[in-house]
Amino acid sequence: MDTEVLTRAERAVPASDDPLWWRSAVIYQVYVRSFADGNGDGTGDLAGVRARLGYLKDLGVDAIWFNPWYPSPMADGGYDVQDYRDIDPRFGTLEEAELLIQDALALGIRTIIDVVPNHISDQHPWFQAALAAGPGSPERERFWFHPGKGENGDEIPTHWVSSFQGETWTRTTNPDGTPGEWYLHMFTPEQPDLNWNHPDVRREHEDILRFWFDRGVAGVRIDSAALLIKDPDLPEVGEKQGPGQHPTEDRDELHDVYRAWRAIADSYPGTRVLVGEIWVPDIVRFTNYLRPDEMHTAFNFDFLARPWGAASFRESIEQTLAAHAPVGAPSTWVLSNHDVTRPVTRYGREDTAFAFLKKRFGVPTDPELGLHRARAAALLVAALPGSLYIYQGDELGLPEVEDLPRELIQDPMHYRSGGIDPGRDGCRVPLPWSGDAAPFGFSPGRARTWLPQPEAWRTLTVQAQAADPGSTLNLYRRLLHLRRQLPELGDGPLEWWDALPSGAASAPDVLAFRRGERFACLVNTGDASVPLPPDASVLLSSTPLDESGRLPGNAAAWLRMDAAASRSTDSTPRITTTEPPASRG
Ligand code: GLC
Repeated sequence: MDTEVLTRAERAVPASDDPLWWRSAVIYQVYVRSFADGNGDGTGDLAGVRARLGYLKDLGVDAIWFNPWYPSPMADGGYDVQDYRDIDPRFGTLEEAELLIQDALALGIRTIIDVVPNHISDQHPWFQAALAAGPGSPERERFWFHPGKGENGDEIPTHWVSSFQGETWTRTTNPDGTPGEWYLHMFTPEQPDLNWNHPDVRREHEDILRFWFDRGVAGVRIDSAALLIKDPDLPEVGEKQGPGQHPTEDRDELHDVYRAWRAIADSYPGTRVLVGEIWVPDIVRFTNYLRPDEMHTAFNFDFLARPWGAASFRESIEQTLAAHAPVGAPSTWVLSNHDVTRPVTRYGREDTAFAFLKKRFGVPTDPELGLHRARAAALLVAALPGSLYIYQGDELGLPEVEDLPRELIQDPMHYRSGGIDPGRDGCRVPLPWSGDAAPFGFSPGRARTWLPQPEAWRTLTVQAQAADPGSTLNLYRRLLHLRRQLPELGDGPLEWWDALPSGAASAPDVLAFRRGERFACLVNTGDASVPLPPDASVLLSSTPLDESGRLPGNAAAWLRMDAAASRSTDSTPRITTTEPPASRG
């Protein structure tokens, strides 16, 4: 670390630094390609982000997580990294990234970047060198090159399945034109997997962490964090039993990798955080990654995958909180990201659960119902204990774009499914900022955006919504500002509020909990309206109360219990009346 850089790293700590900032933070996810375009080429860039930092400040976020911004052939939207220490020229320059990190920090917004350790781009110099060096070379040892099975080596080494569907090995061609070894790629062939048993791979990634921590980033989001280590014996899935012994996922050896990373993060001033992308179904194994000397937090995908409904939400919340308690880590709450169907569309479907393998074209949805529910879900997750992630555009209530012309779809998940899975581009359409026609202020001038925006987005622009007090944008702004003001929210205890109003037929559809003595959140996942307690005033509701002051179906409210009532309640607070108070509103 040179002195000049060290100074910059030290400056990266805000004056009012709270070492526990990450336990309650609101983190906004910027998919750079689709956030805002500064240079008019139809693709988002860092200049676009810098120009819109004021928007994020007004929204009320504590940090930004940027999807990969590195030079990349974009075989998988930038998750195929060619150089981990630079910025893709389509997005800007390293210097601009440094300025962006500083500008954001000056507004009190921290930066989290995406690191992609499981695989690299096939255009990365290491992989190119490995191809050139041939079988048996040290260059190949950084990857998973392997002879094929069968007499001619033309059978794949294993039948491991890619989460992008299809095979996970591709055969190389030797310099003399004969068929060569195979290499492993858990995603596309353009994303060869690294061999994490190799010391170069570990050293390189530890150095990459330092490179970005030196530049003031407050944390890293670790892509595909549970996949890095593979069983070198290459068994088929199921050949070896037992937790921690799956050939490609969640292997026990991974924890040492993250312990080393944590030591690096902890060696920097301020709290630099490790956030894992961990899709592990067993919640105890999931929270093992969050032990005090490993990652700080990990994305909680269980809640995101759950169907709409009080019972399923409650089960997920209870299991999540219980599993996090022993390791002392706060949970994260995530309604969506750049990989999953937007909540407005998801929650308007008959089947509201999310699963990658279920994605199909033409599944009907009721966008109005979906929007009500997405707004209610926003109040719910923002009131739960821990940190909150917001994917860009969710604050505008954007739906999934499901009618992109097929020839414009770029996502490999679409192609690798043989065109059956629509892929993830529908949630990656450039944001609408202003005006009545595409590109809706996303690009200066009339540039054609890299994915087309629906005409109907003219009513969903930031400009249109800023002027409408009932808009989703204003709901998000109010809820984030309130969340910041209310000390009960963020990290801390939650108490379920089980004594629901007598006579409320829809009580099983209601989820209610308290944070502290005077804050309550009530979510009505049914269709019929429900009464609110008499000793509550409404701080915020996702849908206006009905004419009798009841909370409509598919809506949520944040409540302030009056002090006298909260003093008189016993440890199990009760909602005791079905009559709405005259003063509520
Ligand atoms: C993660 C990313 C996803 C990417 C994949 C492969 O799941 O979120 O977008 O395609 O990893 O890197």
